[in-house]
Amino acid sequence: MDKRKIILDCDPGHDDAVAIMLAGKNEKLDVQGITVVAGNQTLDNTTRNALNVVQCLGLDIPVYAGCGQPMVREKRNAGDIHGKSGLDGPVFEALTRTLEKKHAVEFIIRTLMDSDGDITMVTTGPMTNLAMAMRMEPRIIEKIHEIVLMGGAFANGNTTPSAEFNIFADAEAAYVCFNSGRPITMVGLDVTRKALCYPSIVERMSRVGNVASKLFADLMAHFCKAQKEVYGWEGGPLHDPVTIAYLIDPTVIQTKFVNAQIEIRSEQSYGRTNCDMFQYMQLKPTAHVAYEIDVQKFWNIIEEGIRSYS
Ligand code: BDR
Ligand code: CA
Repeated sequence: MDKRKIILDCDPGHDDAVAIMLAGKNEKLDVQGITVVAGNQTLDNTTRNALNVVQCLGLDIPVYAGCGQPMVREKRNAGDIHGKSGLDGPVFEALTRTLEKKHAVEFIIRTLMDSDGDITMVTTGPMTNLAMAMRMEPRIIEKIHEIVLMGGAFANGNTTPSAEFNIFADAEAAYVCFNSGRPITMVGLDVTRKALCYPSIVERMSRVGNVASKLFADLMAHFCKAQKEVYGWEGGPLHDPVTIAYLIDPTVIQTKFVNAQIEIRSEQSYGRTNCDMFQYMQLKPTAHVAYEIDVQKFWNIIEEGIRSYS
């Protein structure tokens, strides 16, 4: 079976870390590289976090640092959820894994240009690196097999009433990607907020008893506490790994092919993903927007992913 090639562009971030864990050893996926962006925390923090995660899990995947700032707007982070380091909770051994020298945007451009059009771009942070790559080398656009992102919501946001964090943190970048004309699968809050990591789930994963389950439990201890404090949730929504679960088993979510636009001009609704789920506007569909998730299947995929480290 041919593995599906992906580049995982992320801002670890607790749920990004689980996305790395899930993709890292999956037999259906071939992670060409992890590209890092500022988002949940500063670029220095998210880059160190990505390195710590790959080192802790023993993954041989190159890590590239990308953009430290959004394309247009001022930078903002999600320290309230992910802590000062962006990955508060786990204690990692001294870092020996090193960063690749190439800039993430350069890596994305080179890898896509050298490809046969078979690489899927997965973004679980602000879409700055991918949008920058598209602006710097527009010929990459037709080389992208599919864009699968965690971001947006057709219902409520989590950063403003209208906007989800990844889109809000760089709506101009999302605008560039959503208007690229490439196939897009949008895994937004509408489904990720159903993937709630209750204490029983943490116990279930902990029982696996390996390096990944230990990291999972350490990550969730901080993440779930922060989600409770900020949003009042009893279980933390494990947003980012839903993208990877979808690539492993597309039946884990259900999507609808609709017109989706990124709002960049409004002050109140900046960063909103306007998804025309009822086709009011009769416009050309542009994105496969997730509207349902099989939560049991999702946790089974997570458990299997964790077991692959045994
Ligand atoms: C998204 O924002 C980040 O805080 C998470 O890592 C996730 O990618 C959820 O809105
Ligand atoms: Ca993220």
